[in-house]
Amino acid sequence: MLLREIESLEIDEKCVRILKALAKIYKAEGFVEISSAHISGVSYDNIGEEGLEWLKSIKGSVKVYTTLNPAGMDCERWGEMGIKEDFYRKQLEILRIFENLGVELTLTCTPYYIKAPKLGEHIAWAESSAVVYANSLLGARTNRESGISALASAIAGVTPYYGLHIKENRAPTVVVKARGDLSVVGYKAGLELPSEIPFFVFDRKVSETELKLLSASIAATGNVAMFHVENFTPEWRDFEKPKEKIEIEGKLEKSCEAELIAIGCPHCSKEELERILRLLDGKRVKRELWIFTSRDVAREAKGVVEKIERLGAKVFKDTCMVVSPATERFKCVMVNSGKALEYLPKKRRVEVAFASLEDCVEYAVS
Ligand code: F3S
Repeated sequence: MLLREIESLEIDEKCVRILKALAKIYKAEGFVEISSAHISGVSYDNIGEEGLEWLKSIKGSVKVYTTLNPAGMDCERWGEMGIKEDFYRKQLEILRIFENLGVELTLTCTPYYIKAPKLGEHIAWAESSAVVYANSLLGARTNRESGISALASAIAGVTPYYGLHIKENRAPTVVVKARGDLSVVGYKAGLELPSEIPFFVFDRKVSETELKLLSASIAATGNVAMFHVENFTPEWRDFEKPKEKIEIEGKLEKSCEAELIAIGCPHCSKEELERILRLLDGKRVKRELWIFTSRDVAREAKGVVEKIERLGAKVFKDTCMVVSPATERFKCVMVNSGKALEYLPKKRRVEVAFASLEDCVEYAVS
């Protein structure tokens, strides 16, 4: 792997300054070439007028395959979500700027379902859930980038070489024996071990979907950027097992009278949509049930999405319950995600009830 300097790159001066500042703060040895970038913080709600002006000032185009996190609305069904026209227009303006920079309008926090980076590949991803997923489940290498630093890296094609780009920094630091709901395990692990690299040992065989939920919740309550799972993740054998051990039970009670059931944090995969359809079992949805996924997955699972919607649920694309202001009109929202549990009260000022996917669906049809 070749480390390089970035002065010679003919790119937007602001991007060079951002990357050089980061390299200085983290004492990076130089810059490493990346194969992809993922940009977060895309909602107009988050960017605002100042951010929009800043974005407009960026010159050039991205050098690598670059994807975009969810926006503040479903680009087609924004009206149905209760999004105002003014917000819609501003959001579209933001998306057009990214498009002109050469960014793919994937509008999802699960870019790995579209194109997954390979083991050992250097990437510069923002969106903490995707960062943890990429490092842990795919063995790709990224630090927790911000939307701005990921954009700068996308334009430069390089990222500062420090932290999790270096193999020895990826060693586990604590063994976590865990059982129960993995979204809750992640939620509690992030609170208890905010700056560690956990080595999880589970009491049963766990699925990729459960580990996706764990990736999101552990990054929401903690500053964690990666974990290992015994007998599962690609690098679990590469280091010595840590001596320190803790135990976590994935059990949590949190309830309120839910007016909305929101599933898909992180965005649902095709398999999760199929599972929701099976759980619905042909029953009519009697409450407000919103399911979030990407436009790519929705296209791939078109038949499943149509069947779910025929039963009365709504499957929205391009956005989610946290980044969209649409959720604010509900008093209490039921979720099966530890990340949504953490962020909905903070970002949308709503109460949250937590339940398993099965119980969320059961409640929706009751
Ligand atoms: Fe994705 Fe939104 Fe959750 S961006 S990880 S669905 S908060």
